[in-house]
Amino acid sequence: MRDSLQDLPGKDLPRARRSPSDQRAQIRRVGIVGTGSHAPEKILNNHDLSKIVDTSDEWITERTGMRERRIAGDEEATSDMAIAAARSALDQAGLDPSNVELIVVATATPDTLFPATACRVQQAIGANGAAGFDLAAACAGFVYALMTADAMIAAGHYRNALVIGAEKLSSITDYTDRNTCVLFGDGAGAVVLGSDSDGATLLDHILRIDGEGLDLIELPGGGSRIPASAESIANNQHFLKLEGPKVFRFAVKVIHDSVTELLERNGYTIDDLDLLIPHQANLRIIEAANARLGIAPERVAINVEKYGNTSAASIPILLDELCREKRLKKGQLICLVAFGAGLSWGASLLRW
Ligand code: ACO
Repeated sequence: MRDSLQDLPGKDLPRARRSPSDQRAQIRRVGIVGTGSHAPEKILNNHDLSKIVDTSDEWITERTGMRERRIAGDEEATSDMAIAAARSALDQAGLDPSNVELIVVATATPDTLFPATACRVQQAIGANGAAGFDLAAACAGFVYALMTADAMIAAGHYRNALVIGAEKLSSITDYTDRNTCVLFGDGAGAVVLGSDSDGATLLDHILRIDGEGLDLIELPGGGSRIPASAESIANNQHFLKLEGPKVFRFAVKVIHDSVTELLERNGYTIDDLDLLIPHQANLRIIEAANARLGIAPERVAINVEKYGNTSAASIPILLDELCREKRLKKGQLICLVAFGAGLSWGASLLRW
């Protein structure tokens, strides 16, 4: 029996490098040591959309702040974007891919339900010996993945992690539905987390879900409840559904509540926050939340005009942009906040 396993992938994987008791001796400080992102080349702007559905540049800009979004090619899947973002983040971190210990991919649009997109990333970058999995928390996915990887490193199970948010939302968007098709775009962002590093330190996180809002944002078909069939396709159940105005009100509330709670329990007020990096779902949601929080617009990062809503990818794409444009300064107190299907939401506090 043993011999027959010899040629299987994984036979040469390294054994655990340290004993579990050594690793768990202390809770480690975890930091972001590299960022990266990837956006597909093709741009779909508001004028292009006005030729497909009954909409206008004026309506989309006024109601959402979006001007254009990126759309992946037919041959480009979520993992392709994730891999490009991962390579860029590893490069910035100076971490050889072969030394990556954990890969978490937050996505609502995996290449396939299984194998996990993380396995495709692992294979492509050559992270031999890494653990990995996909994490489904829709637009809140990146914050969920960040806390998950933070906790796994802090507990001593791994020394580093690649945390990726990647989406091909165009693959679940109905381009005959003007209520949704103007909102979404494709892309990927990644961060490398390291322990005991000089990088930005993760301080705390808040995560929540509320199934009362199950039907406000959903992809009804293709799962075990409504398996893919000719009927599910005829009923358009393979496309994302959204109750926009209800999600709008929920989003403004949870951005306010989670940012306030996270700051307060760490001894800060909104005035101490140098930068808020919210999920880029709609400029009006962000502006309404800013007013409720009492934070000046110049302390809130925005790039929704260029990418639309890229779900789990939106925060890491923006973080990478801010990082590369040198808009993040050492010592700044930064809060990431996201919300999405589930309903699910969360926030992370970090010291850059
Ligand atoms: N072009 C022109 N008119 C439009 C369009 C469009 N693209 N879309 C909707 N309209 C119309 C509607 O039909 C409606 O017309 P009616 O009054 O004749 O019925 C009118 O505009 C107003 O529609 P509302 O839905 O009330 O518009 P609202 O100002 O709420 O904006 C929007 C809609 C942009 C969807 C907003 O509600 C929103 O951003 N919601 C949040 C979405 C979100 O954040 N999702 C995140 C999670 S997604 C995830 O997890 C994958």
